[in-house]
Amino acid sequence: MRAAVLREVGQPLSIEDVTIGKPGPHEVLVRTVAAGVCHSDLHFIEGSYKFPLPVVLGHESAGVVEQVGDEVRTVQVGDHVITCLSVFCGHCEDCLTGHLSLCRNPEVRPAPGAGPPRLSQPAGPVNQFASLSSFAEQMLIHEHACVAIRKDMPLDRAALIGCGVTTGVGAVIHTSKVRPGESVAVIGCGGVGLAAINGAAIAGAGRIIAIDTAGSKENLVRHFGATDFIDASKDDPVAKVMELTGGGVQHSFEAIGLAKTAEQAFNMLRRGGVANIIGMIPVGQTISLMGAAFLGEKRIQGSSMGSNRFPVDMPRFVDFYLDGRLKLDEMISRRIKLEDINEAFAEMKTGQIARSVITFDA
Ligand SMILES: NC(=O)c1ccc[n+]([C@@H]2O[C@H](COP(=O)([O-])OP(=O)(O)OC[C@H]3O[C@@H](n4cnc5c(N)ncnc54)[C@H](O)[C@@H]3O)[C@@H](O)[C@H]2O)c1
Ligand SMILES: [Zn+2]
Ligand SMILES: [Zn+2]
Repeated sequence: MRAAVLREVGQPLSIEDVTIGKPGPHEVLVRTVAAGVCHSDLHFIEGSYKFPLPVVLGHESAGVVEQVGDEVRTVQVGDHVITCLSVFCGHCEDCLTGHLSLCRNPEVRPAPGAGPPRLSQPAGPVNQFASLSSFAEQMLIHEHACVAIRKDMPLDRAALIGCGVTTGVGAVIHTSKVRPGESVAVIGCGGVGLAAINGAAIAGAGRIIAIDTAGSKENLVRHFGATDFIDASKDDPVAKVMELTGGGVQHSFEAIGLAKTAEQAFNMLRRGGVANIIGMIPVGQTISLMGAAFLGEKRIQGSSMGSNRFPVDMPRFVDFYLDGRLKLDEMISRRIKLEDINEAFAEMKTGQIARSVITFDA
């Protein structure tokens, strides 16, 4: 099968032939139908986060089950599935206390080099990224890395639920638990930030303030449910949020991955507010906050993959889309082929687009 391989940090991905293994007892072979291009993949290409090379990146996808291993119980051949990197074991302390997305049991996420390789080439194994590797025509994954969905759901839009939507909506409804009427600010309006805005609208938030340095995104963010837009290339986002809300927001979401904007997220809170850091801040960087602010019971917390329980959440998000509440049509800026992947990353760096989605020929 064809896959996009990262061989060297800072270099373009190359489209290569890669051999995929056969499903083991709890494994599933999925034909990839669509894969979204998320900024997290770019962090690994640029080296602000590291992964053993060579690797097939990609982690936001949907497809059709082609083969299942002996003991697979949750999906069947022919099922339409959304994948999720939050593969869970179901029996560790995190899983049993309802925090599936925190599960790190190596039993369901084999380390590079452990066991027979899922992906390989004549020269040796190729590493699987995030237990998925979606920039490929097929994926060999654990059955707990995907969930079956309704067959009337278009798979190119379903793919977005695989990471960006689950991350953005989940940050709002699970991590920060936004209540009707509360105020929200979202810094960074790519796929993840737009989903957070949409999630805030679904949760019934009052003021939803979208912030981006790309001023061209104003119409788009309003379509997703933002009540206000701040162009951070012109205005100071913290001062402007304070002005618009008369003292700060109850929930802020950083969806870029910069120390500076994480600090802004905290500094735009009202007393008792909570800042959620979704963006991947480069490894080794620290952020700095005013200690006295904690007297106002301001909080800051990480939000990983929207604190999801994805086998429950994703089919609900599919219903939200089909009911018209989740805006996925507008999130796809471009449909591309696998060989256009490097262009999609170049466009992502401009900040002008929402999401590029790779569609694979049937
Ligand atoms: N925590 C998680 O589980 C998780 C999951 C998915 C993605 N992420 C991370 O979330 C972040 C966002 O991902 P994405 O795919 O939406 O990215 P993206 O590149 O599509 O969007 C980023 C947006 O931020 C804007 N921006 C850049 N600098 C800015 C600034 N200084 N002020 C305001 N806006 C600015 C850009 O114009 C763009 O619209 C990335 O760091 C990604 O790695 C985290
Ligand atoms: Zn992602
Ligand atoms: Zn577990």
